[in-house]
Amino acid sequence: MPESVFPEDGTPPPEQGRQGKKRGPKGKPKGRMVQPEARATIAALLGAVPLRRDRLIEYLHIIQDAYGHLSATHLAGLADLMKLPMAEIWEVASFYDHFDLVSEGMAPPPTRTIRICTSLSCMMQGGEALLQKMQTMQSAGNIDADVRFVPAPCLGACDVAPAAADGHHLVGYANTDTLIRAITTGTPHDEPEYIGLTAYRETAGYALIDALNAATPDTHAKMVSGLMSILSDATLKGLGGAGFPTGRKWSIVAGYNGPRLMAVNGDEGEPGTFKDRYYLSSDPHRVLEGVLLASHMVGISKCYLYIRDEYPEIIALLTKELALLEESGLLGGLEIELRRGAGAYICGEESAMIESIEGKRGLPRHRPPYVAERGLFDRPTLVNNVETLFWVRDILERGADWYNDQGREGHPGFRTYSVSGRVAQPGLVTTGAGATVSELIEACGGMADGHKFKGYLPGGASGGILPAHLADVPLDFGGKLAELGCFVGSHAIVVLSDKDNMWKVATNLLQFFAHESCGQCTPCRSGTEKAVSLMTSDTPDTALLGELADTMADASICGLGQAASNPLISVMTHFPGDISDAASEK
Ligand SMILES: Cc1cc2nc3c(=O)[nH]c(=O)nc-3n(C[C@H](O)[C@H](O)[C@H](O)COP(=O)(O)O)c2cc1C
Ligand code: SF4
Ligand code: FES
Repeated sequence: MPESVFPEDGTPPPEQGRQGKKRGPKGKPKGRMVQPEARATIAALLGAVPLRRDRLIEYLHIIQDAYGHLSATHLAGLADLMKLPMAEIWEVASFYDHFDLVSEGMAPPPTRTIRICTSLSCMMQGGEALLQKMQTMQSAGNIDADVRFVPAPCLGACDVAPAAADGHHLVGYANTDTLIRAITTGTPHDEPEYIGLTAYRETAGYALIDALNAATPDTHAKMVSGLMSILSDATLKGLGGAGFPTGRKWSIVAGYNGPRLMAVNGDEGEPGTFKDRYYLSSDPHRVLEGVLLASHMVGISKCYLYIRDEYPEIIALLTKELALLEESGLLGGLEIELRRGAGAYICGEESAMIESIEGKRGLPRHRPPYVAERGLFDRPTLVNNVETLFWVRDILERGADWYNDQGREGHPGFRTYSVSGRVAQPGLVTTGAGATVSELIEACGGMADGHKFKGYLPGGASGGILPAHLADVPLDFGGKLAELGCFVGSHAIVVLSDKDNMWKVATNLLQFFAHESCGQCTPCRSGTEKAVSLMTSDTPDTALLGELADTMADASICGLGQAASNPLISVMTHFPGDISDAASEK
């Protein structure tokens, strides 16, 4: 009889949610008893030997893709091949939502998973109700396929809410019919229509890279210094939410001794945000040219592209285009490696992303040291968001003034706002910085039929909530928005109406944070859970919630815990009546 790595009693499945997953199932594997067949199966599946520790998450993806789950037997085989303790593999795998761990004696999950988004923009369009309907239809025996319906956080498709994913393939405007059709006939894996390498080259794409590659060392140094001045003069700020000046960041990283590394943050998980999906699936080479320019200007030897697992069509097109780029000789020695996230919002936080690229759980690091000095593999690391890199080529070709001249008075530069919620036509609005929500609502065709503007999220889940009478606040970093205790973050604007109860909106956001907290620090791990339980009680204790919010903001390690309470503070400040309304609607 094969020896089991698990207790005989049948280990319960892991709890859903990152905090629960972090604790892992009871009786998790302690030793490592390897079945030779399992080791051979995994070796054949993974092919490449020796296996690299930092690629652990990629290996887990390959096994999950092949079998639809990660069995304890296979993980023991993998642990043996990688010469790692089984506990280390288990600890990493159990952190990520997209891995299904199956211990001995447990039934594997259904072969098919339909994820239905229940984050804010989709909840407002009936995402939660759709999930319940599908689950009810299934338990009533009306769906006989081997499928499960599970809730999912924002899929980066809030413009086509409610969104669902069949496997990881997007089903926009999901309803019972489209989901039944997806189960019956499958979801087409369409390649997006995008500007490929040849078309990009035809519009002088990579001309700057050609010039840099052809330059003598002296000319190269002069060119780099000129380009650095342009970038520093431009007011380009980090568009992943941090708002740090990009030119300054590039100079800081360039100032540390090499080898220097780079990581492109394509994890885009902030509810309401879908701009990076658009940029990568329409004009990927403009982003990649930003990477190549960084490699020359900062002196980067290797770059990792970290793309969320929810964007398989982008992962496929990047795989194809990176191969073409390599063939073209444009990379000039730069190595680029594509990495696939595994369903953890916290991995968008840069130090957590770095941990994930190193093949570990996505736990944010304490700072200092900052990742610019000691990031990936302890090397100086440049981290940039997809959209930030998108603008670099144009700025360097057209000059800092071209970029700075865009935008409203005092708010230079371009911004792409992801607008969703109660507008007639949700979508992206690329305009000058400092746009107001009134302008964005107008750009999106006005309010949706039957909805009266009541308030808005100025910056995704953690940026706070403002009332309609503050519709003229410039949506930019700092300024009036910061004075109001809010921030613009990734520029995700969710428009709310008289049909929305703001306390319920805030509760949905806190539920998101409770699910996505990595669990590393108590104020965030316990604070987000406690906040949800207080907010959903019959008479929410707002004084206690205020104290809890202060503690979370002051004592959490990273931005998730520090900002998670913003929405509830906003509702207590601007919409106190909605708190009692929510309780009485129960
Ligand atoms: C909880 C949390 C989630 C984040 N998620 C993302 C993300 O999905 N994408 C992103 O680019 N930046 C995200 N960031 C910001 C990154 O930590 C980092 O500042 C950014 O990628 C730097 O690139 P930029 O300077 O080009 O904006 C997040 C930050 C926090 C605190
Ligand atoms: S604040 Fe939350 S997400 Fe950030 S490190 Fe602490 S527990 Fe993890
Ligand atoms: S896709 Fe559902 S909220 Fe973003």
